[in-house]
Amino acid sequence: MVTSIDGRLHPSRFTVPVAGVDKDRLRRHYDEVSPRLGARGWMCGRVTMQEISKGKGRTVTSPGITSREAFVGDRGDRDLAVAIDPNGKVHYGQDHLHGDHAVAVLSEGVSDTYLAELLEDGVSYVFAGPDGRDLAKAMDALGETFGVETLLLEGGAGINGAFLKAGLIDEISVLIQPAVDGLAGVQSIFEYRGGPDERPGAGQALRHMSTETLEGGMVWLRYRVEQAPT
Ligand SMILES: NC(=O)c1ccc[n+]([C@@H]2O[C@H](COP(=O)([O-])OP(=O)(O)OC[C@H]3O[C@@H](n4cnc5c(N)ncnc54)[C@H](OP(=O)(O)O)[C@@H]3O)[C@@H](O)[C@H]2O)c1
Repeated sequence: MVTSIDGRLHPSRFTVPVAGVDKDRLRRHYDEVSPRLGARGWMCGRVTMQEISKGKGRTVTSPGITSREAFVGDRGDRDLAVAIDPNGKVHYGQDHLHGDHAVAVLSEGVSDTYLAELLEDGVSYVFAGPDGRDLAKAMDALGETFGVETLLLEGGAGINGAFLKAGLIDEISVLIQPAVDGLAGVQSIFEYRGGPDERPGAGQALRHMSTETLEGGMVWLRYRVEQAPT
């Protein structure tokens, strides 16, 4: 994730770089550090994927799909672009995003016609339980179906918070931009929606792995997530 020094999520709201630092230089760090994390793809929440995907909803005649078996499209040797989309709201119109093969993680309750649309687009899909919110099951399905062991969780706030609560994050990699947002109420990079007494990170602890200062003053922090000592 990229964040401001106050932990906020939306780069479009950040203060501008100082004189002599190029905004595009800061932006490119995100793509440059990703390959160094050794993942076979990336995942994001439904809201973020709807921003990335350019597809439009359309009516597809159901070819009679009734089972809720995973479908694997023509992945080739591409990395995965995974949307956690329990209700089947994302429309793709193609089988790839940023050159990576599109995969939808769905609830078993999505309609047959939505599955038909994904089949027509060549988008792979797996299921994460009846309501699509069993994230451990989603990770098992992705691992078993595609043979991947590591994926980058790339936001937004809601899905990051849900994975934190589920204890499914084993490393946190954050690029801290030399910028501030400052407005009360703006999303931070983790936003679990729960009661005031809930602690989504309970039982977990962060072990510092590395810190690198990148060109333009971006700071790259990496932490391993461990079980908290008792
Ligand atoms: N700074 C960065 O590096 C960065 C990176 C990525 C995104 N962003 C920004 O983040 C914003 C979006 O963040 P967001 O928090 O609103 O949305 P999000 O995390 O992209 O998606 C949230 C959605 O994921 C689904 N979801 C949540 N918890 C789930 C669970 N436990 N199981 C299954 N599905 C679950 C829900 O979909 P349903 O509502 O359909 O149920 C929920 O509405 C965008 O503006 C984007 O530009 C910033």
